[in-house]
Amino acid sequence: MVHLSASSLLLAAGILPNLALGAGLDTAAVALGKLYFGTATDNPELTDTAYVTQLNNTNDFGQITPGNSQKWDATEPTQNTFTFTNGDTIAKLAEANGQKLRCHNLVWHNQLPSWVTSGTWTNATLVAALKNHITNVVTHYKGQCYAWDVVNEALNEDGTYRTSLWYETIGEAYLPIAFATAAAADPDVKLYYNDYNIEYSGSKATAAANIVKLIQSYGVKIDGVGLQAHFIVGSTPSKSNQASTMATYTALGVEVAITELDIRMTLPSTDALLAQQSTDYSNTVGACVETEGCVGVTIWDWTDKYSWVPSTFSGQGAACPWDENYAKKPAYTGILTALGGTATATSTTTSATGGSTTSTTTTSSSTSTSTGVAAHWGQCGGSGWTGPTVCATGYTCTYSNAWYSQCL
Ligand code: G3I
Repeated sequence: MVHLSASSLLLAAGILPNLALGAGLDTAAVALGKLYFGTATDNPELTDTAYVTQLNNTNDFGQITPGNSQKWDATEPTQNTFTFTNGDTIAKLAEANGQKLRCHNLVWHNQLPSWVTSGTWTNATLVAALKNHITNVVTHYKGQCYAWDVVNEALNEDGTYRTSLWYETIGEAYLPIAFATAAAADPDVKLYYNDYNIEYSGSKATAAANIVKLIQSYGVKIDGVGLQAHFIVGSTPSKSNQASTMATYTALGVEVAITELDIRMTLPSTDALLAQQSTDYSNTVGACVETEGCVGVTIWDWTDKYSWVPSTFSGQGAACPWDENYAKKPAYTGILTALGGTATATSTTTSATGGSTTSTTTTSSSTSTSTGVAAHWGQCGGSGWTGPTVCATGYTCTYSNAWYSQCL
């Protein structure tokens, strides 16, 4: 006689398991003294109700960043004509949820409208246009933003200034001018310099620190350095290097934040890549945890479904902590564990057979520090279990009894 476990019987009866939303990345971050754990989002995704349900999950997200709708092309498409509709949609959503808003961004070389890129500028006319843009946008969002990314990506990889319209026409003074204008429009909002590849020691990180010093040398306020952290699985800087690089910024009297974290891989994803990704996420979040002046972490959207990565890096993707079907990946557990959270496997089984719907929610908890992945049939939970609590792709951690959950 074949013995079937309770979970096998449920599956055999057509009862479909799915992972329920658990608590939560922001809850854990705040418990550690951080201000938030958050995510970027974008207006087109807000028509997806399942997506919005998780975006609204304040256990996971205490902060939101608009991925596109506060940029220059969105807010001032025609000179001195401002459109805030899409940015306001996201600001209102954050406000309704009680989520902090990181505002992004004021001055960048990308996503500029053609009147800026094709205009004929002198130093004086471009400074006037820059000040007008910043004053209008910051004034509109005054009181709504925790922080503004005032200047975004001003540096080349070797630490020299990027030859943007801003730098070529105004010189490095465009940076303190931008920060001073933002500070005048909203004295209370935190003002950040934001860039990528400044999360680890090297010429670019040194140059970012020099930008902080430059702005301070003008007697102008700068409050933070945003570390974007667009990384590649298996190639992320060590936790200690990330923490020591954060320390070089905080030593200048500014805070830091991880502002756009995602960790991409060459597709297809494998269990090994997902496990490495979990470790990589854990290291970056862990560096923030270890750094008193690191106020929070933002992922650059939470689901692979809406990640910017595949359209930019051909053949790469799977960069977010949730997959394209909104299932949590091992990276979720890696982040939660780094935040000191308890790895909790919650499974919900729902049956809609026989005209009635039964719902059974079972929870198994452990304080596992493992970031591994359990294979099909492997143990993934139970009282005293310290092994992996996440199952390989395609399998669900399913409760059997108080001492044993299994990947089925
Ligand atoms: O708005 C147009 C739409 O009218 C058009 O039909 C469509 C067709 O492709 O394009 C739309 O614009 C796209 C825009 O996002 C808004 O969806 C652009 O093509 C697309 O290139 C743009 O990508 C954004 C990218 O910045 C631009 O550089 C990503 O969504 C956004 O996530 C990304 O975010 C940046 C941060 O701001 C700064 N750090 C790097 C990060 C990733 O690139």
